[in-house]
Amino acid sequence: MKKKIAVLLSNKGTGSNLEAIIRSIKTGRVKNAEIVVVVSNESDAYGLVRARKYKFPTVIFDLSHYLREGKTRFQYDHDLGKMLKDEYHVDLVVLAGWMLIVSKYFLRYFSNKVINLHPGLLPDGKKKWITLVGGEKVLAIRGLHTNHAVKYALDHNFPVTGSTVHFITEKVDEGPVILRGEVPILPRDTVDSLYARMKKREHLILPEAISLFCEGKLMVRRGKVIISKGTHFL
Ligand code: GRF
Repeated sequence: MKKKIAVLLSNKGTGSNLEAIIRSIKTGRVKNAEIVVVVSNESDAYGLVRARKYKFPTVIFDLSHYLREGKTRFQYDHDLGKMLKDEYHVDLVVLAGWMLIVSKYFLRYFSNKVINLHPGLLPDGKKKWITLVGGEKVLAIRGLHTNHAVKYALDHNFPVTGSTVHFITEKVDEGPVILRGEVPILPRDTVDSLYARMKKREHLILPEAISLFCEGKLMVRRGKVIISKGTHFL
């Protein structure tokens, strides 16, 4: 049976990663997966326009409406999780530009089944530093969204930045890492030029992580992701 995916996004992004996921499923790069719903917490997210173009069901799950009614963020998280589980039978939640912190009231519906795309390089757990593929060390970029995370790497003269796909846990930006895409910073880079190259990597690593999940090749053990090669977890 195909794994049912919910993609959650907001109006802070462009929905380009949603588009990358859709294409990867259509071309067969991601197998055994189908998008069953695209959710935004606001009505003007461009990702919703993209979703409707491909005729995917969309839901606007409006947080401000909850708060106006005197309900809490926890209630919001609980109801969103319950809706995805009970109404859409979701197996995997993909946060592709979702800006709200995800609490345990959501995660209890989807333990180790929520993956996030973060525009900075992250280590496993709460370590401060990350060792790059080339052996250099850079600071982890946590708690910053979109352009702000990209600007941080530029302002601090990082040699390399990139994006990370990781499982979500209750500790923000500390969940087990599935894949990272490193992107070298060039001397003349601006936030826009650097972010454009990072997005290109995101469009590869996010579908790849989804593919691994949907083929049952990911396992979390002691806070780390183990990727199975073939049928065995190494
Ligand atoms: C991505 O850069 C991701 O890292 C961050 O939100 C952005 C969404 O981009 N969490 P897009 O809307 O898919 O273009």
